[in-house]
Formats: sequence, C-alpha cells, structure tokens
Amino acid sequence: MIRIALAFAATLALAFPAAAQKTYEPQVGQAGKDVIWVPTPDEVVDRMLRMAQVTKDDLVYDLGAGDGKIAIAAAKKFGARSVGIEYNPDMAKHAQGNAEKAGVAGRARIVQGDIFATDFSQATVITMYLLPALNLKLRPTILQMRPGTRVVSHSFTMEDWEADEISSMDGRRAYFWMVPANVNGGWSLDTGGDKAELSFEQRFQKIEGTVGLGHTQGGLRDARLRGANITFAYVDNNGVKRDYMGRVTSGKMEGTFRADNGTEGRWSATKK
Ligand SMILES: C[S@@+](CC[C@H](N)C(=O)[O-])C[C@H]1O[C@@H](n2cnc3c(N)ncnc32)[C@H](O)[C@@H]1O
Repeated sequence: MIRIALAFAATLALAFPAAAQKTYEPQVGQAGKDVIWVPTPDEVVDRMLRMAQVTKDDLVYDLGAGDGKIAIAAAKKFGARSVGIEYNPDMAKHAQGNAEKAGVAGRARIVQGDIFATDFSQATVITMYLLPALNLKLRPTILQMRPGTRVVSHSFTMEDWEADEISSMDGRRAYFWMVPANVNGGWSLDTGGDKAELSFEQRFQKIEGTVGLGHTQGGLRDARLRGANITFAYVDNNGVKRDYMGRVTSGKMEGTFRADNGTEGRWSATKK
C-alpha cells in the first residue's frame, strides 16, 4: 500500500512539477543572517524615497532587501534603477518574482548576497532597515562613497553621525544623510591672484575653520558642507565680508565669491 502511494506521489510530481513545489511564503520575523525580516510599511517606504529625492537618474541600493518592496517602489514610483541585496536565497528569489509581478524587473534587480561582501559603491541612494550596530558597521564604507550619495535608514541612526533630516510617521522614524566630501585640513586659497591659507576641521558633515589674514587667524563664518557643495565666509583685514560658494572634487575646490564691497569672481583652493 505504502509503495503504491509513493509511486503515485512520484508520478504526480513528474506530471505536475509545480504542484509538487510549495510556493515560498516568507514569514515576518523570520531569521536573516544579521537581522530578521520585517518589512517597512508602505508610507515609510514612500517617505524614505522622497527624502532621498529619488529620480529616474538614480541607482538605489536597498541593503537587506527582504521581499524587495523598497527596490520595487524606487523603480515603479520614481523610475529609478534599483538593486536589492538579500542574503536569504529563497527570499531573494521571491523578491525578484515580486519585481517581475510589479512589471519592473527590467529596472529593479534583487541579488542574493551579503551586504558586507557586496559592492554597492555605484549607488547614488542607499536605503536600509537593519539595526544600529549594522548601520555602524556599514558607516566607514558609506563615508568612502561619492560625496552627495544619499542615505536613508528606517528606525536606526548612525550614532554620532547626525542625520540631516529626521521624518516621523505614526511613531516610526526615517533618517536621512548626505555623504560629505572630505575637506579636513589645510588648503591654499586663490582668489584670482590673492592668496590665503584656509584650515578646516571636519566632523562628518559639520565643518568649522580659519583663514590666515597676515598675523591674524580669522574665523570662518557660515561654513557649511552638503555633499560636495561648500560655502563659507570671512571678514578680511579691511572689514569686508567675503562669501564663498563652490564644489569639492578630490584635492580641489572651486567656485565663485562675492564681497560686501561689490567685488566678485572665481576662486579655487588646493589641498596642502
Ligand atoms: C528588517 S528586514 C528589511 C527588509 C526591507 N529592506 C524593508 O525595509 O522592507 C532586513 C532584511 O535583511 C536581510 N539580511 C540580514 N542580514 C543580511 C546580510 N548580511 N546581507 C544581506 N541581507 C541581510 C534579512 O534576511 C531581511 O530580509
């Protein structure tokens, strides 16, 4: 009798392979490699992608993709290209299936991989719903990314790297950061012939600094770094306030300045 039942089951499996395979149904709270799966609610996903101002020109990486909902929303609602990295192979396959069902498989891809061993350096936007310790472990890698890369985390901070924006919905928080350029240290400033020495002290996106004005170290005012964009001002030895704005590229800054006395022009600075 048992033999007949087994033979029948085997015949069924051969004739109807789909019936023999159970569809994978992920369970909220199921174990993941470093953190369990809990999906981000839709309205938080929407806010996260809006905080990052995602557009069709972005490449969004969701670190720990779960069922793929963030990567799918980035492609479907915002027209971006997106990649979700998910460690659990069944979950990654399920998420890729969700992308296909949503009709965005051409733009949203879910790859099986470990977020600590997969290269996401090409991302223009990173989204995460992980844990504080995992955010902290990713932080050095994120800070090495292209200045201006936007980062959004559901629920968890980056410790002493303060967020540029915090949004709240029904008691849930989403944190936003922009990767700052590195300007720490000394720079030689050239404003069309006039030279001065600048010095910046940087802690993540926060900067302060000084400018050499002969024997005086003048303090910088309104010093602000946002991705690769920098602004600062100082009052020169004639009591004229000079406002600078520009962009930082590796080892160089350049932009325009305007002084209270009406002078304006271009400036550049090179790293010492
Ligand atoms: C809290 S869920 C977030 C899912 C999705 N990002 C969202 O917000 O809806 C975290 C996901 O990360 C996955 N995960 C855990 N450790 C991982 C690792 N080291 N690399 C890749 N994925 C990981 C889990 O399997 C889980 O699906």
